[in-house]
Amino acid sequence: MDFYDRDVVSIRDLTREEIESILDLSEKMVPYATGEKVDRVLHGKILGNLFFEPSTRTKLSFESAAYRLGCDVIDVSEMSMTSISKGETLADTIRMVDAYCDLIVLRHPYEGAARLAANFSINPVINAGDGAGSHPTQTLLDLFTMRQAKGSLDGLNVVLVGDLKYGRTVHSLAEALTMFGAKLTLVAPDTLQMPDEIINHIKEKGCRPAKTTSLEEVIDKADVLYVTRIQKERFPDPAEYKKVAGTYRINNAMLREARRDMAIMHPLPRIDEIAPEVDSSEHAKYFQQAFNGVPVRMALLCAILGGEI
Ligand code: CP
Repeated sequence: MDFYDRDVVSIRDLTREEIESILDLSEKMVPYATGEKVDRVLHGKILGNLFFEPSTRTKLSFESAAYRLGCDVIDVSEMSMTSISKGETLADTIRMVDAYCDLIVLRHPYEGAARLAANFSINPVINAGDGAGSHPTQTLLDLFTMRQAKGSLDGLNVVLVGDLKYGRTVHSLAEALTMFGAKLTLVAPDTLQMPDEIINHIKEKGCRPAKTTSLEEVIDKADVLYVTRIQKERFPDPAEYKKVAGTYRINNAMLREARRDMAIMHPLPRIDEIAPEVDSSEHAKYFQQAFNGVPVRMALLCAILGGEI
């Protein structure tokens, strides 16, 4: 599979076979991600990490992945610390960062920003989340975690719950799971259901998602329960956020209806949608999922920058 010098802007840029090859490479990266094995195969390369929206996991796991492989990192965490604050365009900013590094990782509040960056950058660009658009590397680590937890990705019953309208992680994930024949159930308040554009895309690929507002009705069928935060920062009207905040809250009592081997995942951060008492249950995979960001991003960096382990 040839990933050398490629952009990763949308999960639609990847085929099922390419996704599987990244997941296989991620498996090999696990002992390097923990530091048990060491290989500075990307020594001499520079990653430009541009995060124009807050991040804990994505930014730090990209940095950790880079350092584990001997790759240097230059980074900016706030637009106000760049010349964008003086009026420079994103396109010119990208041209400049492109001149200083070998690969750009971009998180930006506007949907489409990563595609724009990829158009202006000679070096490859990885989308680390563009507004309510997509988050393809999160999807790769989600799939990696599901495969670890369930043994295979084929034909899983996956319940996606929470903010399916603004949640970019579930947009990319629904599209990727469709490639693996998943049965999707979309649980959300009516105002936060999955956008038609995504629904139409997955239907074209053969998926027939079920929609409901009631998690209780469907939790017993799930192989994977993928929970998302209601994204306060994306609501144009705070009053609309208040109407739906706290709609879903997973606790141990609710899990009595679930299959014993159901995996609970969450891209994090969580607010109150998973009670802390669930953290110690066998179902909880979300902290492992967050760690998996390191081997998966190591695999991507190696594949794109040409490092062989
Ligand atoms: N899952 C995720 O994207 O987390 P961060 O916003 O902390 O990067």
